[in-house]
Amino acid sequence: MEKLLVVDFGSQYTLLIARRARELGVYAEVVPYHSLPAEIGPEVKGVVFSGSYASVSEGPSLPQEWIGRLPSLAICYSAQWIARHYGGAVIEGAQREYGPAKLLIKEPAEFFEGVPDGSTVWMSHADTITALPRGARAIASTENIPYAAYEWPEKRVVAVQFHPEVSHTAYGPQMLENFLRRYCGYTEFWRPEETVEGLVASLRAAMPEGRAVCALSGGVDSTVAALLAHKAIGERFQGIFVDTGLLRRGEREAVLAAYEALGLPVKLVDARERFLQALRGVTDPEEKRRRIGHLFIEVFEEAARGIGGVRYLIQGTIYPDVVESGASVAPTIKSHHNVGGLPERLPFELVEPLRFFFKDEVRRIGEKLGVPASFLRRHPFPGPGLAVRILGEVTAERLEILREADARFIETLQETGWYDRVWQALAVLVPVSTVGVAGDNRAYGQVVALRAVLSTDGMTAEPSPLPYEVLCQAAQRILQEVPGITRVVYDLSSKPPATIEWE
Ligand code: XMP
Repeated sequence: MEKLLVVDFGSQYTLLIARRARELGVYAEVVPYHSLPAEIGPEVKGVVFSGSYASVSEGPSLPQEWIGRLPSLAICYSAQWIARHYGGAVIEGAQREYGPAKLLIKEPAEFFEGVPDGSTVWMSHADTITALPRGARAIASTENIPYAAYEWPEKRVVAVQFHPEVSHTAYGPQMLENFLRRYCGYTEFWRPEETVEGLVASLRAAMPEGRAVCALSGGVDSTVAALLAHKAIGERFQGIFVDTGLLRRGEREAVLAAYEALGLPVKLVDARERFLQALRGVTDPEEKRRRIGHLFIEVFEEAARGIGGVRYLIQGTIYPDVVESGASVAPTIKSHHNVGGLPERLPFELVEPLRFFFKDEVRRIGEKLGVPASFLRRHPFPGPGLAVRILGEVTAERLEILREADARFIETLQETGWYDRVWQALAVLVPVSTVGVAGDNRAYGQVVALRAVLSTDGMTAEPSPLPYEVLCQAAQRILQEVPGITRVVYDLSSKPPATIEWE
């Protein structure tokens, strides 16, 4: 399979470059700049050098032996580094440019084939190129900067100071496609669902004997990983579903029914009481997560021991978990929690069938394996479940209130067609006693906050613009049908600075 290498210098957008390439049908992998392979095969036909968190005088050097070796696209920092290193000039911090800019095409270039002059590009840089190396030619500018893009045929480089991978760059996909197909000459078309047979065969080879277990949560990733493993080793596979009591209404039944329909063998462990016990009196969010994580491992390990002969642990780790963009390169990038993930200290060999796939690719594989669309479209749900949506202590009573409120909100979204238009929707129980009226009396009740966000990967998010009527409908239902709630509010915060979950 042909492959594009995306060399990571720590930009927040590096993973996005790989994802965009794959969406355009070219298989791409991210490699940190300090771990480049010594040898590359003919399947690698091109390379992208990413942007960086650093400024050009302080950041890492580009690997010089790689410049001119293959057709390369240098983005932002890398474009500046190449310009400066080879005799051009960059001024630092002089003209910070962030946000949309108008691309002014100066010279005909294949990179801009199909891209209209004046289209919007997305800028995010503090340094600016002020002179190009000899032999390089400017192909585009903006109203603010003279060298928005340049080409340097001798070095096989096309370089841009804007970000074609970001969705705000109107013709970004067209530019990337031009780079991949015209400059690098990729001809194959990557289709993740076509890898199923190969994945199954390699899983079979990786698990020659002994049993494999998988913690199934109802999430897309663990389900698809389990299906692949089950296909590979048949009855040597055993799924384990732990009911923590922190699930949404009807979730256990719905998920188990779905597994049954898919033919997946799943053992149910009812640990609701144990989780409640463990959470008694705990109000600190991190302590909640810690206790839930520990207990989950304990319960899971007991269940696995009960099965006997278990050698492998299947996990639904996906590519963004493996290559947290910039994580290996940039000093302070928030790590993405994957608390549902079980740690290596379990005495099993870890098998991660989806470690090279993005979420949408996992969905495509799932579809191919017969997972119903309704299941694949389920919103993400955190490992610690409703516990991180109950601010303050988690009790059976508060869980019940939140579960009911959450169900009313989700049902409203489903009925109004909004469920599939948001990335994630949730209700939060806010520990505030607020006054209301019940009949002729004043009654104190609790507050529920509703949150629905738009996102592509959970790393950033915006509040979803739910219609006012939909919000009112959800609020009304909650107020009428869930005892104990006297006030409903909608969360309008974006991430950053807020997170998606409240804890
Ligand atoms: P935040 O709240 O950090 O969430 O903006 C981003 C995405 O991650 C999910 N999330 C979690 N998932 N364990 C998980 O498995 C956790 O502890 C956890 N906390 C948040 C969240 O639901 C959102 O999709």
